[in-house]
Amino acid sequence: MHTSIENLLNDQIKYEAMASMQYLAMASWADAEGYGGVANFFYTQSEEEREHMLKLVKFVNERGGKVIIPSLEQPKDSFDSLGALFQKFLESEVFVTEQINTIIGACLQEKDYNTNNFMQWYVTEQLEEEATARTLLDKLNIIGDDKSGYYHFDRDIETFIQAHER
Ligand code: FEO
Repeated sequence: MHTSIENLLNDQIKYEAMASMQYLAMASWADAEGYGGVANFFYTQSEEEREHMLKLVKFVNERGGKVIIPSLEQPKDSFDSLGALFQKFLESEVFVTEQINTIIGACLQEKDYNTNNFMQWYVTEQLEEEATARTLLDKLNIIGDDKSGYYHFDRDIETFIQAHER
């Protein structure tokens, strides 16, 4: 594996780990604030990001690269509102998408079609996650500061996610 690709994949391991910890902090915040549905949503997202990280760890090892398990900064753990929480979610996903696009670009440049092929799974995943984040944020923008709207959002989020993933 070309060193530049190996480095980018190690960076991505870190970004997926950061997303996993960020979503865990968001789940915990929502839990403490009494938003049980939102908490479950982010606990699940956190698990998914850990899986994304693991897939990369295993891939780099399979290809004979050297995996670097990163140290991480403390994630943001307090939010002004559900809107701010989901804004952070969207920003995190947009960032990850940009990084994945960088890897794809480098793979094509280095003619590493194997890694390019592997990364296509992430391209599809990012499309879905960004769409979910935007849809939920749109709903929260409609709700605005309405407390009963928050209540319904929290109650309905699990149903919405299940329907969305079907
Ligand atoms: Fe694995 Fe949502 O980035």
